[in-house]
Amino acid sequence: MSDFTIHPDSPWLAPLAGYSDLPFRLLAKRHGCGACCSEMVSVKGLAYKNSGTRRLIATCPEDDPMVLQLFGAEPDFFGPVMDKLVGLDFRNFDLNAGCPVRKVVKSGSGARLMEDPDKLVRIASIMVEKAALHPKGGRVGVKFRLGYDKGDDTYLDLARRLEDAGADWVTLHPRYGRQLFAGRADWAKLALLKKAVSIPVIASGDLFTAADGVRCAEQTGVDAVMFARGALYDPSIFARYTALRRGEELPPPDGAHLAAIVREHIRLTKEYEGDDRSFRKIRSIIPRYAKGLKGIRALRGSLLACRSWEDLEKAAAVISEMEPADGLPAPAAVDDVCQ
Ligand SMILES: Cc1cc2nc3c(=O)[nH]c(=O)nc-3n(C[C@H](O)[C@H](O)[C@H](O)COP(=O)(O)O)c2cc1C
Repeated sequence: MSDFTIHPDSPWLAPLAGYSDLPFRLLAKRHGCGACCSEMVSVKGLAYKNSGTRRLIATCPEDDPMVLQLFGAEPDFFGPVMDKLVGLDFRNFDLNAGCPVRKVVKSGSGARLMEDPDKLVRIASIMVEKAALHPKGGRVGVKFRLGYDKGDDTYLDLARRLEDAGADWVTLHPRYGRQLFAGRADWAKLALLKKAVSIPVIASGDLFTAADGVRCAEQTGVDAVMFARGALYDPSIFARYTALRRGEELPPPDGAHLAAIVREHIRLTKEYEGDDRSFRKIRSIIPRYAKGLKGIRALRGSLLACRSWEDLEKAAAVISEMEPADGLPAPAAVDDVCQ
């Protein structure tokens, strides 16, 4: 795994459980993404060699630099798992301290860790210490929210402590844990965080379009932006963003553009996974790309009838002929994308 720079002109793909798998990360890289995060992976699952987690850490040279995101609440699990991962040549890591979903917070992981900053910093310190054992030196970031309860702004203190503990970057999604995805991300807090620490700060939250990314970088002074739901609709958001930073606007995505992306996504899924499970998964994902186009119902129906990869490619090809629906799709709601 190689090194990477954290820079406003190098946009990131966010960790997205159920979505930022190897084929999607490769797709994002081909469309201008600078660094991709994996889906969150349970440190306990890795410790117990759970077969599902093996799939979550699948990677390949083209995936490089990939940032492997871990979640867990028990510091003792992190040391041995990090030793194993570093031995497997993983070099860039992230700690999930922002996920608010019930099954994660009920074990004290994700955003719940923000309620126990001592433990959070202890886990991050273990990760930093172990990542440093990589022959080329490893790097560790932490992704968090403003705090767990509304108004409980613990993020600035936490970020300073993480900097002291040797974290290489921090990523802030400026909402509270209890807020889930309601309301708006408070970008002003990103600017405050940027002033509070000297390690790089990465922005996440309500970056639905390339223009959102450019505005956020300009308004907050962050070191990089991270696209999440915006990339699920159109993975070329990364190239659009870097073009816009140069003052160029790429043409908006039409049916032909989206059909090419779908073809690429199917091909990468077939090449890197290729089993029944990945077939069903990509079949359910394709309609998301056609969200702003007319005829999505018929598309869903024909996809459901597909039984082979060839059928899938043929059914998806109709996207290139689909006309834009009236108005743009609403920003992806979490319910839309969460499985
Ligand atoms: C379906 C879905 C899965 C997510 N999975 C993760 C995850 O595994 N780890 C994580 O730190 N954040 C996760 N997030 C949060 C995103 O990385 C990001 O911080 C959040 O969506 C805000 O960005 P956006 O408003 O631009 O989408 C997830 C979000 C969504 C919608």
